Amino acid sequence: MRKPVIAGNWKMNKLVGEASELVAGLWEEISGQDAVEAVVCPPFVDLPSVGRLISERGMTLGLGAQNMHWEESGAFTGEVSPGMLTDLGVTHVIIGHSERRQLFGETDQGVNRKVTSAFEHGLQPIMCCGETLKQRESGQTEDVVSGQVKCGLFELPAEWVSGLVIAYEPIWAIGTGVAASTADAQEVCGYIRGLVAAEYDTGVAESVRIQYGGSVTPENISELMAMDDIDGALVGGASLKADVFSRIVMFS
Ligand code: 13P
Repeated sequence: MRKPVIAGNWKMNKLVGEASELVAGLWEEISGQDAVEAVVCPPFVDLPSVGRLISERGMTLGLGAQNMHWEESGAFTGEVSPGMLTDLGVTHVIIGHSERRQLFGETDQGVNRKVTSAFEHGLQPIMCCGETLKQRESGQTEDVVSGQVKCGLFELPAEWVSGLVIAYEPIWAIGTGVAASTADAQEVCGYIRGLVAAEYDTGVAESVRIQYGGSVTPENISELMAMDDIDGALVGGASLKADVFSRIVMFS
């Protein structure tokens, strides 16, 4: 059985005080739950205070970063290394979010290096993929997703891939309030699992966890999670309020 993994990507939101308030709110609502691997991914500057709060209160809540560099240290102005993240108690890291690809020029090769480095440092990578509206409308969804996933997995050993989380986030569904239909989301998540089976084997494909992301809400989470190949969600806007994100985590 794959444990569902629901992560809140706060993107560039929440000052330090606001971040603590949000996590304190989550503590009230979801501190005891263990059915879902729940994760919050605050901006870098909030990681120390959020990490402290999680450990002080003994919360079963993963702490994720939204990006990282693949190198351990060096002359990389403005970047944050995997060792810096683990030093703060970070457990998860989002890699290759479409906003990083579209706005900051991240490439499939860079994503592959980051995923590799995350595993080397004991971080749980959440590797993102997804097509634009134009690509979907021109029938390129599978080609785009397949290119991103295959490149992202390049030369990764099967043991790592078994423990990977892949987030399928159609770009046209991000922040629009228009989620993919459950059938469309399932179709692509199933396709991704098939890709992993073809690149590795069915055992690896059965253990990799695949999230859907894009306008996930408390209203649509149950229907999405009922799909065979959807093992969780990567949540943006709806992760910024404790009561709303808690309702998503406690979907069942
Ligand atoms: P929304 O949930 O706001 O659509 O964002 C999705 C997303 O990009 C999560 O990484």
